[in-house]
Amino acid sequence: MNILIIGAGGFIGSHLSEEIIRNHDDWNIVALDIASSKIEHLLNHKRFNFIKADILKDLDVVEEQLKSCDLVFPLAAIANPSMYVQDPLKIFEVDFEGNLQIIKWAVKHNKRIIFPSTSEVYGMCEDEEFDEETSNLIAGPIGKQRWIYSCSKQMLDRVIYAHGLKNGLRYTLFRPFNWIGPRLDDIFKAESGSSRVVSQFLSNILHGKDINLVDGGSQLRCFTYISDGVAALIKIIENKNNCADGQIFNVGNPHNELTIRELAEKIIRFAGKYDKLMEVAKKIKITSMSSADYYGKTYQDVIKRVPSIKKAETALNWKPIVGVNELLTKTMDFYFR
Ligand code: UGA
Repeated sequence: MNILIIGAGGFIGSHLSEEIIRNHDDWNIVALDIASSKIEHLLNHKRFNFIKADILKDLDVVEEQLKSCDLVFPLAAIANPSMYVQDPLKIFEVDFEGNLQIIKWAVKHNKRIIFPSTSEVYGMCEDEEFDEETSNLIAGPIGKQRWIYSCSKQMLDRVIYAHGLKNGLRYTLFRPFNWIGPRLDDIFKAESGSSRVVSQFLSNILHGKDINLVDGGSQLRCFTYISDGVAALIKIIENKNNCADGQIFNVGNPHNELTIRELAEKIIRFAGKYDKLMEVAKKIKITSMSSADYYGKTYQDVIKRVPSIKKAETALNWKPIVGVNELLTKTMDFYFR
């Protein structure tokens, strides 16, 4: 099988590529990306063909590669909340417009597509667990620009779904819930407020800066280790008995619930185990900051985000196995060992 991974140089793309190259000898990858720093170790592999391409500029290249693949993963996207409020039009351009074009080509050339939706589509849904079939997708007012990412992804989910019904597009939508692991963000140059929360806290400790809890840190997230996420993607690619066709799957770990404050405390505690961080970790303080001061007035947040993963467990015969202490340790080992 020939798999086209657009955005193979990103966090999910690099881990998915690594797993395919390591354990799936009969799958070949064409990897498109604007950068290759996270996939340098794969570049010489005979089943990994990297082509430098930008989804907004190199349209011919992207369409050409799409024509000759069996399956496409459009993983090129900006998924960083500070960017949603700082540059919402960039989010629209890359995440929505760039990917809409890829979806149209998948329809035109009759290709199977596995598309990254997001936990963010549920927005401020108040359900105890977010369910793919029954939960409402709730965004705030237009002035709260944080939701442009959520709405862009939701719209693409709806477009893909409609093409499935109307044009027979073969698709699977997966919704990552706070996937964490090596290579998530560059913690060595992360500016305050520029990364996702785990990378941000690691970066703060590394640079001896206090940790900011946005609005007190009582927000709750379920963190999922990247290898568990990738294991679900492999099941989706395999698609035994067409189990993934026309389906939407939450891919997260509901057992790894933490408030952001608990996360901060844990990370500081764990930092004490690493020579590089031991001394500096003793001095790090946890402080609180309003979301308006931290992200800007156009930010808004979801207080609790827990996935129901019954569907993925049943249909894909998958379940996440990496607990929260282990996922933080593995991630921190990567950066600090
Ligand atoms: C994330 C991002 O939108 C995407 O990476 C992704 O699509 C999706 O959700 C996901 O991975 O499930 P969010 O969980 O809000 O959204 O992103 P983080 O930046 O990791 O923030 C988590 C929480 O930590 C937020 O409540 C945020 O306000 C808080 N935070 C973040 C702090 O308290 N301090 C910080 O320094 C940074």
